[in-house]
Amino acid sequence: MLDKSPLPAAVNVPNDLAAHWMPFTANRAFKKAPRLLAGAKDMHYITVDGRKIIDAAAGMWCCNAGHGRSQISAAIAKQAEALDYAPPFQFGIPQAFELASRIADLAPAGLDHVFFCNSGSEAADTALKIALAYQQIQGQGTRSRLIGRERGYHGVGFGGTAVGGIVNNRKMFGTLLAGVDHLPHTYDREKQAFSKGEPEYGAHFADELERLVNLHGASTIAAVIVEPMAGSTGVLPAPKGYLKRLREITQKHGILLIFDEVITGYGRLGFAFAAERYGVLPDMLTFAKGITNGAAPMGGVLVRDTIHDAFMSGPEHVVELTHGYTYSAHPLACAAGLATLDIYRDENLFERAGKLEPKFADAVMSLRGEPNVVDIRTVGLTAGIDLAPRPDLPGKRRPDLPGKRGFDGLNSAFHDNDLMLRVAGDTLALTPPLIVTEDQIGEIIEKVAKVIRAVA
Ligand SMILES: Cc1ncc(COP(=O)(O)O)c(C=O)c1O
Repeated sequence: MLDKSPLPAAVNVPNDLAAHWMPFTANRAFKKAPRLLAGAKDMHYITVDGRKIIDAAAGMWCCNAGHGRSQISAAIAKQAEALDYAPPFQFGIPQAFELASRIADLAPAGLDHVFFCNSGSEAADTALKIALAYQQIQGQGTRSRLIGRERGYHGVGFGGTAVGGIVNNRKMFGTLLAGVDHLPHTYDREKQAFSKGEPEYGAHFADELERLVNLHGASTIAAVIVEPMAGSTGVLPAPKGYLKRLREITQKHGILLIFDEVITGYGRLGFAFAAERYGVLPDMLTFAKGITNGAAPMGGVLVRDTIHDAFMSGPEHVVELTHGYTYSAHPLACAAGLATLDIYRDENLFERAGKLEPKFADAVMSLRGEPNVVDIRTVGLTAGIDLAPRPDLPGKRRPDLPGKRGFDGLNSAFHDNDLMLRVAGDTLALTPPLIVTEDQIGEIIEKVAKVIRAVA
């Protein structure tokens, strides 16, 4: 007789996936072969069918302390019981002030004030708006241009999309913001291929800012925003000396410099912030993701004291910056943030990432020579592995092929090799939680090798 008893599924699995329009996802392909997750602990996800998947992506560059940290979930639960929500406009909660102070303590001296929001996108837009407003209150209202960089990613708000430089993220959305220009990206495979850490070649790409100043006039430019390591485009570490040079040129011309540290913040490059690794002090620094270990949505902007203080004038009953979000400094996110910073401190996770960096780099570079690997880049606990796109058929152009090998790699990793990684086009990105062990690095690399062979 046919056994009709239900399978012992790990969780209740939905049988209709239609309603949820998933973000940044190939929806139709996903719904044919879903990658559904039900749990997570330390270095692993658990799928709905009970498989243990090693996480080589820290979720999405978020879970630097690994998954299922009970200290964080307990802090969130306790906070939810005590105070579920408080209006952040004209009212405050002690935890928001404490968290801001602790973030400022972690940051390079001078970045002393924190404006909270809920995501990296909001952080980018907030920083751009503060830059424009600051220039205006300084009597420099002609400075309204914003400069981003090709291949940059600053989230999906109109501001972040406009200064971002990934064509597929831009081309569907009209003219975006007026008065935006872009520096060239810093990648030259011929000169930089298989670099460990910051490539030797490429500091001069910063000089292109002088060209933009000559084109537009310094008096029209408010700010430049860059990621110290461009993550979402496929891991492009800054060339040696590049960020210092960008700082010198911005300073010379009175242009603000914003570092988007949504990925590089909270230990990814072996320091609390990449600004420290590179010895460069930006005027503003955006963060998100790692601040709560991914356990609650939160983002923010660290702001130089001189910029903050410039706003603190005029009648005291008047709002100094007409900007903010209903969920800025949300109590649950503040609780998660404080517990997360405790873990980072108590487990020395930033230093741990720095110590593991050379071993991680050697391990990833061992994939050189696997089929179709055309470049590998590493910095901190992060790596990008470029695979050659699937070739066109003889005499036939197939525009659907770029990104296909990467996408197949994502599926092979998840469905056949119990591995979570990220892909950007045909680049595989590895960004494990900072708690990863040397053995687990070895395991990840073995699995990645299998994935690369599977999509050869
Ligand atoms: C550098 C950078 N900035 C901004 C963002 C956007 O963050 P969110 O997705 O939280 O809006 C990201 C997300 O990956 C990012 O990598």
